[in-house]
Amino acid sequence: MKAIVYNKKSSPDKLVYCDIDKPVPNDNEVLIKVHAVSLNAADYRSMKMGLIPKRKIFGADIAGQIESVGKNITLFRPGDEVMGDLASYGFGGLAEYVTAPERLLIRKPGQITFEKAATLPMAAMTALQALRDKADIQKGQKVLIVGSAGGVGTFAIQLAKYFKAEVTGVCSSKNVQQTFSLGADYVFDYTKEGFAKRDKRYNIILGINGNYPLSAYKKTLTSNGTYVMVGGSLSQVFKSLLFGWIFSFGSRKMKSLAARANKTDLELLVKLAEEGIIKPVIDRSYPLDKTSDAMNYLKQGHSTGKVVINIELN
Ligand SMILES: NC(=O)c1ccc[n+]([C@@H]2O[C@H](COP(=O)([O-])OP(=O)(O)OC[C@H]3O[C@@H](n4cnc5c(N)ncnc54)[C@H](OP(=O)(O)O)[C@@H]3O)[C@@H](O)[C@H]2O)c1
Repeated sequence: MKAIVYNKKSSPDKLVYCDIDKPVPNDNEVLIKVHAVSLNAADYRSMKMGLIPKRKIFGADIAGQIESVGKNITLFRPGDEVMGDLASYGFGGLAEYVTAPERLLIRKPGQITFEKAATLPMAAMTALQALRDKADIQKGQKVLIVGSAGGVGTFAIQLAKYFKAEVTGVCSSKNVQQTFSLGADYVFDYTKEGFAKRDKRYNIILGINGNYPLSAYKKTLTSNGTYVMVGGSLSQVFKSLLFGWIFSFGSRKMKSLAARANKTDLELLVKLAEEGIIKPVIDRSYPLDKTSDAMNYLKQGHSTGKVVINIELN
């Protein structure tokens, strides 16, 4: 089969398009013919940190069709269309076939394309768990989404509106219209105005991207508000983890999120997508042999929504 295999000696690209043996599922695995994979910061950050999957194949968020099943599999049959996040099972999605345990997969509804399905597992799950589980979002609350234009941010806007919050996004000029069109009530163009310059206070701040002083978040939060550190530049993440305790004086809180794959949550997100309540935003689709270009584009940190590898394009 064709796959994108990490080779640290390969230059200039370490992600090499090549032929390797098709995997064989064990008794507790299914074999999936992958149709689409969405890329995440988890792919290039793991690569940068030297956390290379055993099979040397990145790609966590997959959507595809089951080709065969191991003898202990009870939930799926060949022909079923499935989707899931394989990060906790060693990635492996950037290939024509991947094996996975059934606990990480759910059925993909027919009306959601493979490309759209592949956008949901990690990015939408992160947005959901940040808003609902970490911030305990409530109707009418004011939510500031810093980094509203990327994979996680575009889902966060739509989910915060689903929870009936008032949403303010923070993005650059090119993404202002999109942020409004996804439902944001207000948008800060960070190239023109800092979000902390006005007097407005927010019950919830999701710090998804960028690198902002913690004092700006603190100043912008209500006295009992919650700042959820989702991601951003590495220095933002370290700053938040080292000095985030400053938030915890009084009833203001800082929480950090480590999103976890969860079938129930993924089923909820798929239902919301089926109902048109959340709409995946796909910035670019690439064929499998152009994965290195796709990863380089994502790494620049200014993609608008999700970057997808569509294996059917090859
Ligand atoms: N905690 C967890 O469990 C978890 C899970 C998944 C992801 N993450 C983290 O979440 C972060 C975002 O992931 P993602 O998939 O959304 O990344 P992404 O799709 O690459 O995000 C790109 C977006 O970031 C925006 N951005 C860049 N600089 C910004 C700035 N200074 N201010 C505001 N927005 C800015 C860009 O908007 P403009 O082009 O308009 O600048 C672009 O749309 C990453 O750091 C990732 O590691 C954490």
